[in-house]
Amino acid sequence: MQKNTTPCYYGDYLQLEKLLTAQAPESAKYAAEAHDETLFIIVHQVYELWFKQILHELKAVMAEFAHAEVKDEQLTGIVHKLKRIITIQKLLNTQIGVIETMTPQDFMSFRDYLVPASGFQSVQFKMLEIGLGLKSGFRIDFDKNSFYSRLNVKDQDFLKHLEDEPSLFERIEKWLERMPFLQLNNFSFWQMYQQATDTMLADDKATVQGIEQIAEHEREMQLKEIERTAEKFAALLDADKYQQLQQDGTFRLSQKAMLSALFITLYQEEPMFNLPFQLLTCLTEIDENLTIWRYKHAMMVQRMLGTKIGTGGSSGHDYLKRTTEKNRIYTDLFNMATFLLPKSDLPALPKEIKRGLGFYFAGQE
Ligand code: HEM
Repeated sequence: MQKNTTPCYYGDYLQLEKLLTAQAPESAKYAAEAHDETLFIIVHQVYELWFKQILHELKAVMAEFAHAEVKDEQLTGIVHKLKRIITIQKLLNTQIGVIETMTPQDFMSFRDYLVPASGFQSVQFKMLEIGLGLKSGFRIDFDKNSFYSRLNVKDQDFLKHLEDEPSLFERIEKWLERMPFLQLNNFSFWQMYQQATDTMLADDKATVQGIEQIAEHEREMQLKEIERTAEKFAALLDADKYQQLQQDGTFRLSQKAMLSALFITLYQEEPMFNLPFQLLTCLTEIDENLTIWRYKHAMMVQRMLGTKIGTGGSSGHDYLKRTTEKNRIYTDLFNMATFLLPKSDLPALPKEIKRGLGFYFAGQE
């Protein structure tokens, strides 16, 4: 490594002069400066800096998935970066507590000066959502156009262009689809899986039918629940049924990708699936942390505004609460548990299959 030729100075390196003079309370322009407005500005700025770091990691991860082949050393780097995103998100979720030290009345002393600025205009937050896979078609109805109409033309064009790029969700889907299917040397994994699930569901049914202590209507309800689960299992292995459930929003991943993700999850302890499983777990955690942030932000907004509308014109708390339920991305990975079997019931993988599956998945786009 080459030695530096000019001495580095802490404040210059971090451009502190720029950073520490970038807090200009609006209230000071109209009346006595509201004390808490500095806190409000700094908290938002810190969030935006961390969003920048998350996007930096996400961009690097997406670049790795753009390759037709993702090698094991690349997967190690990807998982490392995703874990960094998760650690930052945990910090962001805790940071809500700092803004909550401001009382609703202190907020009222400067809030009206901020109209019509709003979190809707955080381009980096929208980049994060879109980059992870929350494109317009998957947002709650109000959200499909709401934030676009609050942005200037330059930001609108930028984000609309981003919607046309493949998101992390789509790249992961392609990567999962490239996994070789287990139809090698006359061993059909999915046939054996189906037999194992049929046995499991039949056992569940027999157990419910055999319980003496429950009322008849309860028994019927439980049997119906088992039937519903059986339908989902059946759809998993039937292209037409799967497509129907994809259309009604039950599944978002393609059937092929879903089966690969399930296979990785079922055999997570196999060394070759360790990193892919960690990767899927990271995506689940990122989605969960984003949802926790949405929820904490929505609760904080209710404390600050009650049922008042937001400066961006949404219904405020009510709108934000709905995004926690609907603006989710990796729900397929959350729902994967529906299709898991106890380890003891899993078909054992023949030796040649274990050998045949590489540590990473190569293939065609
Ligand atoms: C007193 C504190 C805060 C209040 C009262 C508040 C209020 C709101 C409201 C009402 C909305 C909905 C859009 C609208 O109608 O304006 C919103 C959206 C948003 N806020 Fe905040 N907010 C606060 C603090 C923060 C902080 C600290 C951040 C950190 C970056 C933030 C980021 C966002 C983002 C990204 C959105 C868009 C969410 C989405 O579209 O799903 N807010 N905020």
